Amino acid sequence: MNTNVITFDGYSGTGKGTISIMLAKKIGFHYLDSGALYRTLAYKIIESKINPKSDLTKFLVSIDNFDVSFIYNKDDQIDVFYDGKCLNSFIRDENTAKAASEIAKNNEVRKFLEKYQRLFEKPPGLVADGRDMGSKIFKNAGLKFFFVANLKKRAERRYYQLKNQGISANLPDLEDKLSIRDMNDTTRSLSPLVKPEGAIEIDTSDLTITKVFDIVMKEFDKSNIIKNNE
Ligand code: DC
Repeated sequence: MNTNVITFDGYSGTGKGTISIMLAKKIGFHYLDSGALYRTLAYKIIESKINPKSDLTKFLVSIDNFDVSFIYNKDDQIDVFYDGKCLNSFIRDENTAKAASEIAKNNEVRKFLEKYQRLFEKPPGLVADGRDMGSKIFKNAGLKFFFVANLKKRAERRYYQLKNQGISANLPDLEDKLSIRDMNDTTRSLSPLVKPEGAIEIDTSDLTITKVFDIVMKEFDKSNIIKNNE
């Protein structure tokens, strides 16, 4: 049993990204934002102007090192780098999110990224955020969370998050896009978003970040995860 991986799965806008970044920082574990890998690959596909229907295999084979790294910035948020270039402003918009959700249905893409996701598992441990972290990629994780929240709250959060990043957004439109992505993510045949076996479910609709983090830290303290200071 791999006890040193902690997984966060769930819907977009539930706060799992924020909480998993806070946890990784607090306990000194590595951090994986698997959604950012899907977004980066989607961005690379769009940028390369290939036809994702006919040229995807060739394109994936041509990438010999999918070099994505996550680096804390001065606000304790994570910047996503590909080949040394910060991609935040390219991969966080709703168009890339939609493209990521589309390519995530493809078996070759999932296989390609599976390999890279596993490389993040290094001592002293890993906090992994995504859709299939606890159900597929790190099935034996020592601690698993599943985050849910109602659609309205999630759309509002995304709206303010994008606004803070200087990206323009429209609330009803975001709600529509989120619900389409929910549908894509939960109904695809490969690794659909499900509550992983043994995961602790947290409904964050009416909870503050501080409260959610408090619940997560209590579960971490109770768990068998080998703590850095043990
Ligand atoms: O978490 P996110 O919004 O950045 O993820 C973008 C898309 O990537 C999401 O709609 C589905 C896909 N994804 C996935 O299929 N599996 C993961 N483990 C993470 C993300």
